[in-house]
Order: sequence, then structure tokens, then C-alpha cells
Amino acid sequence: ETRPRLPVIWMDFQSCSGPTESFIRSYQPSMQKVLFDMISLEYNGALMAGSGTAAEEHILKIMNEYPGEYILAAEGSLPLLPGALTIAGRPAEETFREVAAKAKAVVAMGSCATWGGIPAAKPNPTLARAVTDFVPPGVPFIRIPGCPPIGEVMTNTLAHIVIFGTLPEVDELARPKAYYRHRLHDKCQRRPFFDAGLYAETFNDEGARQGYCLYKLGCRGPTTYNACAELRWNGGLSWPIQSGHPCIGCAAPNFWDEAPFYAR
Ligand code: SF4
Ligand code: F3S
Repeated sequence: ETRPRLPVIWMDFQSCSGPTESFIRSYQPSMQKVLFDMISLEYNGALMAGSGTAAEEHILKIMNEYPGEYILAAEGSLPLLPGALTIAGRPAEETFREVAAKAKAVVAMGSCATWGGIPAAKPNPTLARAVTDFVPPGVPFIRIPGCPPIGEVMTNTLAHIVIFGTLPEVDELARPKAYYRHRLHDKCQRRPFFDAGLYAETFNDEGARQGYCLYKLGCRGPTTYNACAELRWNGGLSWPIQSGHPCIGCAAPNFWDEAPFYAR
């Protein structure tokens, strides 16, 4: 409560704004708590009222007033194709590198920022890459994958930085261990059915109605690491597998170009 709020510049690139949409639906902490007590959200293309020159100049102001103190949250991928994405008339990649260079850390929000995501899907017309490929040497970064990530995973990662002043402990892919250490398959409520060899064969058969395992419908829970089975979505209400849909592995690298979602 005594710490100053953490300045956050949130830039979106080749993105659907899914991470921002999920972020503002965090229940614990609530968005009021996040915005009024934890962070000072200085820039976010989808949420801010400002636009044009005033908004772009504000980024420079924060960079100059808080060098090494602000967080650059980035969502969406960055294209290597010249001219594919410009912000205020400048190549987005250039702006990203500049803002990242003076940041305390870069937090890549969502599977496009962390792995390339949907814009990088074959044939990848803009030569899209993860923003983490563009982080200047020496600037720490962390990956929060998911399409989108769970709101609480994003807000609690920022809360960790506010409270401890450091990035949380990460795994070998730079994901916070607290949220990405478990395979969904190991925490799934349908796992007893998997172990018993009981599977839904179609979305509308008796097995589906009984809550059987969705493996034969293409579930990628056995290869996906995320907190959906533990935190769930919408304040703990449910998650894809609970609601009857197989996991499509949306937090896993390259999930968009794997085999068709419903085939096995
Ligand atoms: Fe594993 Fe998916 Fe079956 Fe759950 S529904 S037990 S995650 S294969
Ligand atoms: Fe994504 Fe699978 Fe969770 S599709 S939302 S990681 S259940």
C-alpha cells in the first residue's frame, strides 16, 4: 500500500486486443485495485482516451521521467516485412526497441507476443515474430502466453513486480512458474475418465454428456502448460474443458500450425 504505482506502457502490435480484454476482466485483484492501487497505466491503444500526437508524446514523457522503472507490456507480434505495421508513421519494431531499451522489463502478454501467434500462422504474410525476439540485450523479459492469457495471470504477475520489485521466478521458456508449471492434463477434472479409458467420441454422445475425457476430440491438455484448470476463467467460474470443449493448446508455442484442432 505504501509503494508508488508502477508505470506501465502497454503497446499492442499485430494483435486482436484479446490480452487487454482479458486483463480488464481480472477478478482478483479487481481492475479497480489494479488501476488505482498497483499500476499507473500510461498508454494502452484500446483503453486510453488520448490519441494522436498527445498519446505518442506521452510515451516519450514516461520514458524520460521513469527510465529503468516502467514496465513495457506488449501484446501482438511484430512484423519483419517493411511497412507492414507502423505506429504514428514509424515502423512499430523501431518504436518497440526504443521503448523496451529504457524499460525495467518487458512483459509479453499473449501468444502472439510470446510465440508469434495467429499473425505468424502459415504462410505468415507479414513475417510476424514474437516481440521477445526484438527485446534489446540486457533488458529482462517474461512471457505470459495464452490466447488470451487468463486475466489474473497478467494482473498478478504485475502485482509481483510491484510488491517485490523483481520479475517472478520463470521456467526455461521465461514463463512465470507459478502459473505455467502444471500440465493441464495433470489438473483436469476429466482425468479420471482418461485413466479409465472413457472418452467422448463426438460432441453430442452419451460420453460427452457424462463429462468423459475429450482426448479423442483433439484435446491438447496433455501437452499444454497453463493455469486454466486451477484458476479457471471469469473469476473461477469455468474453463474450456469444464464447459465441454477440448483444449486447443492456446498457450503452447506453435499451437496455430499444429494439426487441425478437432482431429487426433
Ligand atoms: Fe487430459 Fe484433455 Fe482428457 Fe482433461 S479432457 S484428461 S486434459 S486429455
Ligand atoms: Fe487455452 Fe487450453 Fe486453457 S485452449 S484457455 S490453454 S484450456
